[in-house]
Amino acid sequence: MEIRNVKGTYDLYGNDANQYSYVESLMVAIATIFAFNEIRLPVIEHSELFVRSVGDGSDVVRKEMYTFLDKGNRSITLRPEFTAGIIRSFVQNKLYANADYPVKYFYCGPVFRYDRPQLGRYRQFNQFGVESLCSTSISADVEVITLAYTILSSLGLDGVKIKINSIGDEETRENYKKALKEYFSKYIDNMCEDCKCRYEINPLRILDCKVPEDQEIVKGAPKISSYYSSASKERLEKVLFELDSLEIPYEIDDSLVRGLDYYSEVVFEFHYVSKSGKDYGALGGGGHYDKLIAELGGPSLPGVGFSFGIERVVSVLKDDGLFGEEEMGTYCYVMPMGESVHEYALNVTQTLRLGGLRTEMCYEQAKFSTMFKRALRKNAKYAVIIGEEEMKNNTVQIKDLSTQNQECVKVDEIIKYFDEHAPREYKEEE
Ligand code: HAM
Repeated sequence: MEIRNVKGTYDLYGNDANQYSYVESLMVAIATIFAFNEIRLPVIEHSELFVRSVGDGSDVVRKEMYTFLDKGNRSITLRPEFTAGIIRSFVQNKLYANADYPVKYFYCGPVFRYDRPQLGRYRQFNQFGVESLCSTSISADVEVITLAYTILSSLGLDGVKIKINSIGDEETRENYKKALKEYFSKYIDNMCEDCKCRYEINPLRILDCKVPEDQEIVKGAPKISSYYSSASKERLEKVLFELDSLEIPYEIDDSLVRGLDYYSEVVFEFHYVSKSGKDYGALGGGGHYDKLIAELGGPSLPGVGFSFGIERVVSVLKDDGLFGEEEMGTYCYVMPMGESVHEYALNVTQTLRLGGLRTEMCYEQAKFSTMFKRALRKNAKYAVIIGEEEMKNNTVQIKDLSTQNQECVKVDEIIKYFDEHAPREYKEEE
């Protein structure tokens, strides 16, 4: 029987792979401009890391982790998100010592969640995100929101909705949880099994329930804004003030609580519905966390970050026709006329490539007409034709495939020749 890919995963090739790389490289470029530095981490971590940070009350830990015992009987998990691993590494490697705060990282790579595959939901997907660590300034929160917004705008997404809320400090949340428990106690027996569990572990999470009947009940629940401590209220106001001054649009969504346990104070999500009305879910989300670094053994300082789901970003860009032609054609197609010139042609190919030109060579012995058709199919701009005569004189014939003009050029001068002809997109960055 044919072996197929695992459910909830997908293969990426052709123009789709180019579009994906384009999105990823733009995200990296903008994070770099915002002075974030890359961090790369293992895909596998001890399961306990996620239980302690993401939280055993979260859906991610309760239902979605790819966890297995390795041959040494250790419980290992394929990362379901990046933040926990970054803080683990930050603490383990004492990256906070002698550092100027905030310490700012960006990251990119696959994450794994045993989610129900559907539109915008995979079991292996990719996140790009940032974490800004150890600054107590609210401007650190504003900076990551601004960065995320700048990335989405630079990709051409107009009308991104930033939903923002504060889930307050511990005092706020304790008081609010009590109020929620009291409110939901009247309804909980008729709510979904997940909500019953959330009611016991973390009633805040009930606000996130997607079951339509439960959502109706959630609508009448008390609002967190009535329970803010004065410090949390002030913090949220300051964040909004700075966003206003940077003209970053947002809307307050007081039911936004986020699905991971480490958050405190400001949380946010980035939403965009494509022009055809397709909603893939949040393109990204994140928030501030007060205790995570200390809980994993580091200094008692906060952090803030966000992650995008790259597949969702790529999907909306595709739907709205916001990709250009990302697939680059071959620039030169080298055509050796006979076996005797094969090695000479290989050398010419290498010379062109070292000169930064996208070059392919026909490796098989083929008739001129066959090679010529291939060059056209590959969208080549030039055919580089090599026969015995050219080899003898250390030259090549360069045929412009759009004008059909042909010139004999010395191999020594071939790069100079193309320097005068090749547009930038076919060359390596200088
Ligand atoms: P998250 O909201 O769990 O946050 O995931 C971030 C993004 O990953 C989502 O907004 C969505 O675009 C994408 N995503 C989530 N699940 C799936 C899925 N099954 N298939 C495809 N895409 C998905 C975090 O992971 C936090 N670590 C964000 C953060 C960073 N908070 C602070 N720093």
